[in-house]
Amino acid sequence: MPKEIKDKINQQPLISQEQENDKPPFETTTLWDYPKQSYGKKPKGNNKFQGVTPAFIIWNMLQRYTKPGDLVVDPMASSGTAIDVCEEEGRKVIGYDINPQHPKVIKNDSRKIPLADNSVDMVFIDSPYGDNVNYSDDPADIGKISAEDPRFYEELEKVAKEIYRILKPGKVMGWLIGDQWVKRKFTPVGFKIYQMLVDDVKFEPIDLICVVRRNQSSNTRLWHYRAQKFNFFLRGFKYLILVKKPDGKKMERPLKVDWKKYK
Ligand SMILES: C[S@@+](CC[C@H](N)C(=O)[O-])C[C@H]1O[C@@H](n2cnc3c(N)ncnc32)[C@H](O)[C@@H]1O
Repeated sequence: MPKEIKDKINQQPLISQEQENDKPPFETTTLWDYPKQSYGKKPKGNNKFQGVTPAFIIWNMLQRYTKPGDLVVDPMASSGTAIDVCEEEGRKVIGYDINPQHPKVIKNDSRKIPLADNSVDMVFIDSPYGDNVNYSDDPADIGKISAEDPRFYEELEKVAKEIYRILKPGKVMGWLIGDQWVKRKFTPVGFKIYQMLVDDVKFEPIDLICVVRRNQSSNTRLWHYRAQKFNFFLRGFKYLILVKKPDGKKMERPLKVDWKKYK
């Protein structure tokens, strides 16, 4: 890259054009942090809803993996953060949830998604992380099952298989998930979901993002005191697991190894 261009880039302020225009920053590393649940003048989702998704995550995924007019699906949309972000960004969107909290979210159990095979351009899902939040009394709510119970992963695998089916080949899914530390026991929920997606459902890995957790109910003086006194850690991040449905294409330029060089 010519030196003048490098200098020009280095001189640019760290506050991007997007932030000036009330958009979140375009994330370029695998550590994503945003101090608020939403951005801009219009709220996205309901920040009073326990378990609401940080809107900047969906905004960042849209910039990288979709174009205007693409169809995005959120199978567990609840208060509709994905719907609000997608509509503002000119994407078509369908949100489902077993317990809708937004007028445009359709009631549906995401173990069966009423959409055709290979019809969707991107999926975002923020599933329950175990039974830590009481979302509803519906027995079909997967958030009724503990993350220590193998059934939790079996039920979420059914959801993952539906997502795989409706995605077009080569298209991307982001799954937001957090680990669990309850009653002195750590459960690596994120690793287990990653393993299920890649090993069992056969999604191709793209990357693993750490999203800083803010404004959670344990972010109080009392919990920080307990974490120190009883020697445990409060959850500081969630994973955004980025995967894609294979497109069946072989690598365009297969790697040629010059074996003579290694003799
Ligand atoms: C972390 S919340 C999603 C938050 C949402 N993205 C938002 O911003 O409001 C998880 C959601 O999964 C939903 N859920 C649990 N089991 C489900 C199922 N079998 N089918 C569809 N939704 C389900 C719950 O009702 C809950 O709303």
